[in-house]
Amino acid sequence: MTTGNAQQPHQPVPSAGLRHLRPDVKAMTGYTPGEQVRDCVKLNTNECPWPPSPNVLAALRAAAAESLRLYPEPRSRAVCQAAAAAYGVSADQVLIGNGSDDCLTIVYRAFLRPGDRIACPWPTYGLYDTLATLQGAEVVHVDYVPQGTTWKLPATLAKQAAKLVIVANPNNPSATLVPVAELRQLASELDGVLVVDEAYVEFAGDGASLLPHLDRHPNLIVLRTFSKSYSLAGARLGMLFAHPEIVAQLMKVKDSYNVNSISQALGVAALNDKGYHRDLVRRTISERARLEAALTAFGWTWPDSAANFLLCEVGPRAEQIYLALKSAGILVRWWATEPLRTKLRITVGRPEWNDRLLSALRELHA
Ligand SMILES: Cc1ncc(COP(=O)(O)O)c(C=O)c1O
Repeated sequence: MTTGNAQQPHQPVPSAGLRHLRPDVKAMTGYTPGEQVRDCVKLNTNECPWPPSPNVLAALRAAAAESLRLYPEPRSRAVCQAAAAAYGVSADQVLIGNGSDDCLTIVYRAFLRPGDRIACPWPTYGLYDTLATLQGAEVVHVDYVPQGTTWKLPATLAKQAAKLVIVANPNNPSATLVPVAELRQLASELDGVLVVDEAYVEFAGDGASLLPHLDRHPNLIVLRTFSKSYSLAGARLGMLFAHPEIVAQLMKVKDSYNVNSISQALGVAALNDKGYHRDLVRRTISERARLEAALTAFGWTWPDSAANFLLCEVGPRAEQIYLALKSAGILVRWWATEPLRTKLRITVGRPEWNDRLLSALRELHA
């Protein structure tokens, strides 16, 4: 029986609560992560194209019901210990985050009050700005200096009176690497704290990391991630390394249970399988070289890559090529903003994925 009272489709009304929102949050544009589309050749967010270590997959299968019923160990101690052993530091110099993005959030929350300033060379990872806006902090961009086949750190970076200076090394999106000596010099010149985000450093070869120099620089924070070379982007795990006193303070700021139990178990298994990790890195570097050799046929250029991606200078057709590749089921990264509008960032994929990219580009007469 119908009553004539058929339910109307839900009509959203503007929320009265919105007027209580922080005006700066209302005004800001949120961070736009790379598209997460399945069933395509995914070369847009710098994930590892091969699966994680078999030991990680075994740890995943072994994750017991108990690890769901109970809260996780709040400080991820087992991961801290495995990371300390793997990277030659002490466990009290390590903090584990829900991705290195979480480590960044913790650092920002701990160091920045409204009106404080951060500085970073530009262009770089966009989240550095978004998190600063959320803290009410001011952001200073100092342009990288393209030089030959690389991008140099701007000389004025140390002179910005910033509380935090953040350098992604290798940088995203350029994949360029700043030598350790220059970053150590920057750390000693700074009155503030230097955060070096080493999300891609494994692909840069030996001697590229600041971790061995951590003890010499009490104002240095180094970030690492499991999302790239460990092939664990979906598990959300990051590592922060700093002086024990800084780590102790940051512990007060993080969410109590910021890393779930399963991810903690996966992190330990990944760190303990050094051979597999080395192999993933080796395969990526060798495939990067093959991709670079093949891409030269298109007349594109890119800065020397120390990461698992290339920032190709494509010219005015960049957006068109990005869209054409997308309709062919191949996702690369393009930004509508300067100075990236004429460039495509391409993650190094599996050989067969890279071959698909190359033949699609040939068809496009890129
Ligand atoms: C420079 C840089 N830092 C951090 C991240 C995020 O890492 P995570 O997945 O550990 O949050 C990315 C991801 O693309 C990145 O490019």
